[in-house]
Amino acid sequence: MAVSAATRTPTTRFDIGSDEIAADPWPGLRELSGLGPVVWHETLGRWLVTADQETRDILARFERFSVEGTSMQDLFGAEAFISMDDRRRHDRLRQVWAAAFRQQGLEALRPVVQATVDRLLAPVVERLRSGEAVDLSDAICRPLPTMVIALMMGVPDEAIPDVVRWSDAMASGSASYLPEAQAKRARAARDDGKTQLAAYLGRLIAERRATPGADLISTLVQSEPGRELPDEHLVQNVRQLLFAGNETTAKWLAHIFVTYGERPGVRRELAADRTLVVAANEEVMRWQTVVGTTVRRVRGGPTVVAGIAMAEGDEVTCLLAAANRDPARYRDPDTFDLHRPRQPNLGFGAGLHNCLGAMLARMEAERAVNGLLDAAPDFAVAAPYRYSSVPLRGPLPVIAALDRS
Ligand code: HEM
Repeated sequence: MAVSAATRTPTTRFDIGSDEIAADPWPGLRELSGLGPVVWHETLGRWLVTADQETRDILARFERFSVEGTSMQDLFGAEAFISMDDRRRHDRLRQVWAAAFRQQGLEALRPVVQATVDRLLAPVVERLRSGEAVDLSDAICRPLPTMVIALMMGVPDEAIPDVVRWSDAMASGSASYLPEAQAKRARAARDDGKTQLAAYLGRLIAERRATPGADLISTLVQSEPGRELPDEHLVQNVRQLLFAGNETTAKWLAHIFVTYGERPGVRRELAADRTLVVAANEEVMRWQTVVGTTVRRVRGGPTVVAGIAMAEGDEVTCLLAAANRDPARYRDPDTFDLHRPRQPNLGFGAGLHNCLGAMLARMEAERAVNGLLDAAPDFAVAAPYRYSSVPLRGPLPVIAALDRS
């Protein structure tokens, strides 16, 4: 990492997508942040934004920092509202589902989330109590969000394993940070997952047009955009919803279980005072950000961020993982602090594209943690794990056993 004398622009070759960085990205991200809020990546040929305030500004100015023409659009498709800058088109589609994801809409779902957590936890607890080690990623983290969103969408139980497989394949989408040979393989796997999921969802959409039910796909096909738009557009919107919440929530849950599973003191405190659980989960999100990067492209002419000139068309990667440890916002940012004063972090994004499913994910995490603390408060991490890379980072596997010490 260096400061270029010609331009006074800090530059880096920081390897965002590498496995070595994934294991412990924090020293590198700290060094990067130390160079400034905006750094030029020499090999990727794009800007990296490391600071909380600049990231918030960029995500707020969606008319100048566009998702169009970025890898986001590649992954989700141009007709999914996560890939649209046009506020009217975006809001029209987002509004169709917004009520279902607000606090009030989600209250109706609480018993369903609870029942799903109970169903997944029962065998886990039995195995833990019999002295077995259990992979919480397989048993809870991965299935919980998929089962809940599948239920919301009316995806039948028997299709869930396929949906998980296809959306896992789509998650190879952080290809833009990989060396070309690896990137090619990742893109092929991603495209295969996208296509298979699209074909399946196309069939579901046609079914719900013919026989609507009370699920989110039926809500969409019966809405005004649902009646006007072609099925390929609806498929992209449904697929975005299925994909966006699965890997992300699974990885957040995995971070949460690892963080508490390695800290008996934290576990004891949480078990004794459940009012701490929600804030503790948010602190895990800040400290171990799941979606570590998000991308935008400069449009509408050149612009300046933190005194650095950016040209029309420049690509900008906002390092949410670095912003969530910005010392200007968080005291002692590298420490996991159960009692940190509450301050919203950027783990669920901000601005036009702030996460639609944040409250659902929070409910799932809160129910899962409380369920485990009720039944097995002494759970501890019992085997080593590895991390996936910074753009979508989480530990795997999460092998837990009861701590008998
Ligand atoms: C821990 C779990 C989750 C994390 C960390 C997460 C993270 C994010 C982030 C960072 C963004 C903003 C992306 C950007 O600005 O480029 C986002 C957007 C989005 N998320 Fe999530 N998400 C999670 C769970 C969910 C769930 C459960 C759902 C739905 C079931 C969901 C659906 C969406 C959608 C639809 C958007 C796009 C919103 C828009 O463009 O208006 N997410 N999420």
